[in-house]
Amino acid sequence: MARMLSPYLHEGQEVLDLGCGSGLVGKAFEELGQVNNLIFDGVDFSANMLVKAKQRGYRNLVCANLSQEDLASAVWDDLGTEKKYSTLVSVGVYGDFLNPVDLEYAFNLADKHSVVAVAGREAIHPFIPSVFKIFGFEVVHSEKGVAHYEPDSSNCVKNPEAFFTSLLGSGSLLNPEQVGVNYSYFIGKR
Ligand SMILES: C[S@@+](CC[C@H](N)C(=O)[O-])C[C@H]1O[C@@H](n2cnc3c(N)ncnc32)[C@H](O)[C@@H]1O
Repeated sequence: MARMLSPYLHEGQEVLDLGCGSGLVGKAFEELGQVNNLIFDGVDFSANMLVKAKQRGYRNLVCANLSQEDLASAVWDDLGTEKKYSTLVSVGVYGDFLNPVDLEYAFNLADKHSVVAVAGREAIHPFIPSVFKIFGFEVVHSEKGVAHYEPDSSNCVKNPEAFFTSLLGSGSLLNPEQVGVNYSYFIGKR
C-alpha cells in the first residue's frame, strides 16, 4: 500500500490512518522511504493498539469506533478542531472487520481534493468502486495481492477473543493468525 500511495503524497503530508492498530502503515512508509516526514494521525477503537502507534511516532491518536455515524464529530471533539485530511489510508479494516459502506463516516474527515487508499480482503473488490463513486471518488489505482499476517505479529488486537466477542454481528472477522490472505488495494481521488 505504501508503494502504491507514495506517488500521491508529498513531503511532510498529513495522513489519517483508519484502524491504525499499532501503526504498521506508518512503519511501511518509513521503511519504503519514498516520501519523507509524513505525519500520521490514527483512529482505532483499541486503546492498547493506540499506545503502540504512539510509540511508532504517530501524532494524534483518537480512540473511536469507525462504524459510528458521528465518527467525524467524535474525532473533532478529541482533536479540538474540525480538521479534514487530504489523505486517508486504511489497511485490514474495511472488509475484514467493517462493511465497506461504513467508509461513508470516514469520508466526512476527507477534504474536497483528497486521496483515499483502502486495502482489505479480496471480498471488498466488487464493492469499493461503488462506494468510492457514491462519495465522489474516482478509482485511480486498483490491485490484487496477498497480505501476510504473522502469528506473533502485533498488527492485531492482543485479546482477540474479547475483541471478536465485541464485534459479533458486525460482519466477517479476520483471524489474526491467518497467513497469506488475498487482498485488494484501491486508491481513490476526488
Ligand atoms: C487487522 S488490524 C490492522 C491494523 C493496521 N491497519 C495494520 O495494517 O497493521 C485491524 C485494526 O482495526 C481495528 N478496528 C476494527 N474494527 C474497528 C472499529 N469498528 N473501529 C475502530 N477500529 C477498529 C482493530 O482494533 C485493529 O487495530
